[in-house]
Amino acid sequence: MAGFDLILRGGACVLPWGTETTDLGVREGRIAAMGDLRTAAAEQEIDCRGLHVLPGLIDAHVHLRDPGDPAVETLETGTRAAVLGGLAAVFDMPNTTPAITDRARLDWKRDYLAGRAFCDVGLYVGASKKNIAELAALELQPNVCAVKVFAGSSTGDLLVEDDASLEAVMRSGRRRICYHSEDEYRLQARKPLFRSGMPHRNHMEWRDVECAALGTRRLMAIARATSRPAHILHVSTAEELDYLRDFRDVATVEVLVNHLTQTDEAYDRLGGYAVMNPPIRDARHREAAWAAVRDGTVDVVGSDHAPHSRAAKERPWPETAAGLTGVQTIVPVMLDHVAAGRLSLGRLVDLMCAGPARVYGVSGKGRLAAGYDADFTVVDLKRQRSIEESWIASPCGWTPFAGHRCTGWPVMTIIRGQVAMREDEVLGPPRGAPVRFAEARGA
Ligand code: DOR
Ligand code: ZN
Repeated sequence: MAGFDLILRGGACVLPWGTETTDLGVREGRIAAMGDLRTAAAEQEIDCRGLHVLPGLIDAHVHLRDPGDPAVETLETGTRAAVLGGLAAVFDMPNTTPAITDRARLDWKRDYLAGRAFCDVGLYVGASKKNIAELAALELQPNVCAVKVFAGSSTGDLLVEDDASLEAVMRSGRRRICYHSEDEYRLQARKPLFRSGMPHRNHMEWRDVECAALGTRRLMAIARATSRPAHILHVSTAEELDYLRDFRDVATVEVLVNHLTQTDEAYDRLGGYAVMNPPIRDARHREAAWAAVRDGTVDVVGSDHAPHSRAAKERPWPETAAGLTGVQTIVPVMLDHVAAGRLSLGRLVDLMCAGPARVYGVSGKGRLAAGYDADFTVVDLKRQRSIEESWIASPCGWTPFAGHRCTGWPVMTIIRGQVAMREDEVLGPPRGAPVRFAEARGA
């Protein structure tokens, strides 16, 4: 047997067909062998006995704010946070300043990754009313994970809110489109009911269940009429999850770790640091999200990592900036849910690796299998540790999960055969590459 560049020895490997204790051999950045490699040699060997080896986890929903405000986050700091938190890849949202809405900015961003990204990165393209005709070509550009449509307004100025424009978007191109689904007309109509200086809890009354549910009903009607696949991001209500079960021919579903973990008590405890779109809601919706994880309705769990400065989070409601950090904490928080028995480790891998790979059509990632990228998230299921703000790598410096005690922690992140993080230490220079997608050109 020829030598390997790297062998992971004796870890409990979460394979697509179950968990098996086995060695993994890596050559030239890809998984070259799986099985008993006792007689094989490698340049680097890592003892994984007592640990679980997951395929490199992916956060398909992050806002790294680059270009934007480097005091809050950059591509470099956000991907550093990602590898510290056990992620091998992130997909970066387009509502930057300026937004990623044309070929020139997309090309700029792809080039900008080199030498700056610590993990692999997929790129969203933003839809605006001005670029609808170009979306069909833009979604086929290399390394594009999807078109992102803000059908309701949030941070930034991207917005496509009316049915005619949404239908035109769906008729421009073929790949699955990602939606921020809140009905813009209802958001605007209700805004005057909510005055400056009200308690933060009003966030979930303003952007209420019907805002989200109406948005999703409208999108599903057009998706079905045009047969255009849709991925509904951050589904936050029991009503939408029920509704979407009848649209699995066209729809896939993302739920956020926040909506699985937090409820409206967070407004009293965290103030502006609980404000996000769509809002954190009451326990009924959290329970519905878990039921939807259990019955397979949910395809992907993401963080919606959306950093803002402390000053912007501490402005009185409703001027509070919406969005919470999460790229560094999603894996520990989800592992803690595994420890609490809310989902299996296999389902976690489905939601954070195989799921994103399937929904977005990733090439070469998504499972532990020969020939796939040698991306590994190595976790210690027994490690107990609290999330602390001093650990957060994003310059904004805060997390809504400060003090959250976790059982289960990522101890190593390996990306295309190279150790990017081991025991809280980022190793080596930024070696992240753009993620490849089967339907994008140059994949
Ligand atoms: O809370 C949010 N923050 N929701 C979004 O849709 C956007 C995000 C941001 O970019 O700040
Ligand atoms: Zn988002």
